[in-house]
Amino acid sequence: MSIFASIEQAPTDPILGISDAYRADPSPDKVNLGIGVYQDESGKLPLLAAVREAVARIAADPKPLGYQPMDGLPGFAAATQELVFGKGSAAVASGRIVTVQTLAGTGALKLGADFLNRFSPGADILFSEPTWDNHAAVFGGAGLTIRAYRYYDRATGGVDFAGMCADIADAKPGSIVLLHACCHNPSGCDLDDSQWAEVVKLIGEKGLIPFFDMAYQGFAVGAEADAVGVRLAAESGITFLVANSYSKTFGLYGERIGGLSIGCADAAEAKRVLSRVKLCIRANYSNPPTQGATIVTTILGDSELRASWEAEVASYRDRIRDMRGLLAEGLRANGVAETGFVTKQRGMFTFTGLSPEQMQTLRGEYHIYGVDNGRICCAALNTRNVEYVAVSLAKLLK
Ligand code: LMR
Repeated sequence: MSIFASIEQAPTDPILGISDAYRADPSPDKVNLGIGVYQDESGKLPLLAAVREAVARIAADPKPLGYQPMDGLPGFAAATQELVFGKGSAAVASGRIVTVQTLAGTGALKLGADFLNRFSPGADILFSEPTWDNHAAVFGGAGLTIRAYRYYDRATGGVDFAGMCADIADAKPGSIVLLHACCHNPSGCDLDDSQWAEVVKLIGEKGLIPFFDMAYQGFAVGAEADAVGVRLAAESGITFLVANSYSKTFGLYGERIGGLSIGCADAAEAKRVLSRVKLCIRANYSNPPTQGATIVTTILGDSELRASWEAEVASYRDRIRDMRGLLAEGLRANGVAETGFVTKQRGMFTFTGLSPEQMQTLRGEYHIYGVDNGRICCAALNTRNVEYVAVSLAKLLK
């Protein structure tokens, strides 16, 4: 008898499973608004000009593909620190921030979770309610204890800031607070600058550890403005973690490239922390791959390529904003009274407020694939599908 005989079929993934169902649907009307992947007006995943050029440069000068150091490609950490913490960051200059290359954002979250659980086993981690579907699997799987703080206010379609602060203030000292740096996934509702200042101060006063998930730097306002919470934490001197991803921002989804940064008390502590993070890496996958890190480091290290990247991300932002405008217009034209949420929310996602049953109806009857929590990806809308989506959504929202 096989030792696997009693294993039951796992449920499908709430986000990636939607793409599988979409692929299997023969309908010509089908629209995939499930996964958070940016698509251009023609419905295709774009290859950024800066990435195309970096790949060409790398191909023109092929190098032997040896092992990378455990913490990643030399030069990658410094380039990532400049992007995440800003040029001239005093925290970076002090040497108290450790940055390592990771297997994209999810890999950074898992590495950070493993590291935290190693030194604070079973510690509480507070998630926004709601949060990205995979957070619970990543952090729960690492052994941390999942708690929640209030965040999205269904009544106002905004952030329940008082509730958020009250729940964070109630957390046990030493708890970790997971924060979406920008473009909150799934709600699209972000804190403003003064709210960030308040939250970072509160977290510091209560002896908590903020862990920023930054998968969309540049998709809300711009690379600098979107990092305001992260930078406040870094410059305030508290202990913190940041997982940043290059999947969406550089269109490098399949390269699995991101970074984990840990803010320590001082450079000496950072050195010891890095030695322990390397042990976690060694025990998981030994060392990371080369190509994605080389692409990112090439772009960030060349002022022309970096400017090209920023301009292209700005054009993504603009296109998403235009699609949000068209969706809101289409909803209004089809009898939905309250559409402000569509244009107010930021980043790739719109949180429709539809129930799981309604999202299933959207799939079953209209072949429009969103996530059961009510999230749809506006970055996959285009001028050909937006009207159909608006008409279909309006039937459920009215
Ligand atoms: C999403 O939220 O759709 C993306 O981050 C993709 C994923 O891995 O879930």
